[in-house]
Amino acid sequence: MVKVGILGVGTVGESVAKILLENADIIEARAGKRVVPVIGAVRNLDKKRDVDILLTDNPLEVIENEDVDIVVELMGGVEEPYTLVKKALEAKKAVVTANKALLAYHRYELQAIAKDIPLFYEASVAGGIPIIGALRNGLSANHILSIKGIMNGTCNYMLTKMIQERANYDEVLKEAQDLGYAEADPTFDVGGFDTAHKLLILSSIAYGIDAKPEDIIIEGIEDITQTDVEFAKEFGYEIKLLGIAKRVEQGVEMRVHSTMIKADSMIAKVDGVMNAVSVVGDCVGETMFYGAGAGGDATASAVIADIIDIVRGNSSPMLGYKKGLESGLALVAPETITSQYYIKLKVVDESGVLAKVSSILGDYDISVESMLQKPSQLANRVRLLFTTHLCQEKKMKEAIEALKALDVVEERVTMIRIEK
Ligand code: HSE
Repeated sequence: MVKVGILGVGTVGESVAKILLENADIIEARAGKRVVPVIGAVRNLDKKRDVDILLTDNPLEVIENEDVDIVVELMGGVEEPYTLVKKALEAKKAVVTANKALLAYHRYELQAIAKDIPLFYEASVAGGIPIIGALRNGLSANHILSIKGIMNGTCNYMLTKMIQERANYDEVLKEAQDLGYAEADPTFDVGGFDTAHKLLILSSIAYGIDAKPEDIIIEGIEDITQTDVEFAKEFGYEIKLLGIAKRVEQGVEMRVHSTMIKADSMIAKVDGVMNAVSVVGDCVGETMFYGAGAGGDATASAVIADIIDIVRGNSSPMLGYKKGLESGLALVAPETITSQYYIKLKVVDESGVLAKVSSILGDYDISVESMLQKPSQLANRVRLLFTTHLCQEKKMKEAIEALKALDVVEERVTMIRIEK
């Protein structure tokens, strides 16, 4: 029999304990041994929970409990779980974590501490979708050419409602919070940080890149308006918050931002709270993984898959590399990435304005792919919308500053990157 202790018995922890008990026979058949949840640590012992295990408010009682073979960490946060996971590994206990923020900051230290002790984390990225297993095992023969993922259900839910129902940003954020999709602090969702944590984890497995959130472009969906959604449609795009990692000549680009993608692409059709990750490998071509990225039972499904793998004796290396990391791959500096862009400007409606705007774009080597001019609600103002051919991020940002400095252009200029 294998005994499990759970740090953090909230929505996911309750589901883990419940499913381990309810699906005990199939889990035993697959793992080869009976797996039993025995103890859980919670912050508040007075809060009623729907689990039939011993509870304590001291996490060390879980880690130091001689009966516990596998520690499951579902607490959230970074430094406290880091200390506890480290202690568990030092006590030679296998660990399963769903904590993306912990791994975004400490995955390499934890890998060094864990060595041969299993430290599995399938639930940390895209909840119930087995994307870590796919990258670590199923796709391990490939050079990974790109990863593009919708990995935050809250943002995808909000954008879907804004696109399909013309809903207003604040209303849909409130709905996502009421439905329990959003993080305690929704800035993590709408600001792109949650997606970035997940992208960093996947990029370590795909490329061996040890980047931190502050090293990559992280933008959210806060600036997207109904106008952008509608103009995107006119250009044949939908707007999604994507985490993108891709191999280019100079290394690996990693970025999280609102992205215009072709409306007929598979990932554009991923709606509501669902997540999806497209991975392109040099041998396999494009693969696509779709499913629930959040929720107690879906996330518990991934946590328990890890427990089963550990009980079976799976010794896949934590970040996918047994012998050092793939050589020669560096993170591309954010300002040197290249992309196509959508730009929205509000300008004074008078002669010569378009010429001034296009002259600045020309000065920065920015070639326009398509252009629309639309009336604004304000008198004597019009909206100018451009999509561009590929250009360098640095040049685009400088051009935007130069455009803002024109007295005929209003302060707020929207820029959305386009992925084809
Ligand atoms: N807040 C996250 C989301 C939950 O909306 O997808 C899973 O990480």
